[in-house]
Amino acid sequence: MSYRILHVSDLHVGPPFRRPIAEALVRQAHTIRPDLVVVSGDFVQRADLIGQWRAAQKLLAALPSPQLVVPGNHDVPLYNTHLRLFAPLGRYRRYISRDLNPVFERPGLVVVGVVTAHGLTFDGGKISRSQAATLRSILGRYGPEVCKVVVWHHPVVNPPGLHKNRVIKDAHAAIHMLDACNVELLLSGHIHVSYVGNTLDVVNDLRQGTIICQSGTTTSRRGYGREQGKNSCNLIEVDEHAIRISQLLYMDEADRFVPAAEHTFPRRAGPVYELPPDERDVPM
Ligand SMILES: [Fe+2]
Ligand SMILES: [Fe+2]
Repeated sequence: MSYRILHVSDLHVGPPFRRPIAEALVRQAHTIRPDLVVVSGDFVQRADLIGQWRAAQKLLAALPSPQLVVPGNHDVPLYNTHLRLFAPLGRYRRYISRDLNPVFERPGLVVVGVVTAHGLTFDGGKISRSQAATLRSILGRYGPEVCKVVVWHHPVVNPPGLHKNRVIKDAHAAIHMLDACNVELLLSGHIHVSYVGNTLDVVNDLRQGTIICQSGTTTSRRGYGREQGKNSCNLIEVDEHAIRISQLLYMDEADRFVPAAEHTFPRRAGPVYELPPDERDVPM
């Protein structure tokens, strides 16, 4: 088995949106022909405005399918307190996806989406106990040979260089939960800078840790830190031996997203894991 996942995030359709880059993304996505497109939230800039939802819906329709999507904090209305309190994800469900517990399943791979943006959430996110139980029950159905990938909007690790704590509420518990569920890879967004790391970077009493893969903003002007004014996404390949992550950065000169860094991790199906020789860039 071998699968390619195109991971984009923080589209922010609205005033900070960069239409030419969205058009380049659509063109490139069809060239890549991924097995799955993941969008890890913040479809619109301001969820109160219907026009932004319609445009985001159009952009999503232009990207290849199948898709697995989750909402971000910007997808919850800010000014309409009635909607915010009583139907925070009503517009997301109407224009983007009705499914708030999406699961993508193929032989050897399962990808599960979790909502971390809730009505009372202004910037940070959280995972409720019942959501954690649902995730545990879904992932418990799969054996250790299946690569388990989770998608949610908010990060569990602050990348280096961040001046403010942006992690999800109870990030420590979330990291332990991912580890207990044998999640190999977490795809997130929210902080508008791409980052590849591991939960073992911040919590050291884990069984094996989870690879962290953050996408920056793929189509807006809201890039942060080293990605200020820049746009990024990730192309991920999963097979029996390795998870390969290519961090893609949009380059004006190329008019497309190009690999800025590549990472290869051994799959963690057993207690001992190492890259087979033909997967290594540096021979031993
Ligand atoms: Fe965002
Ligand atoms: Fe966000």
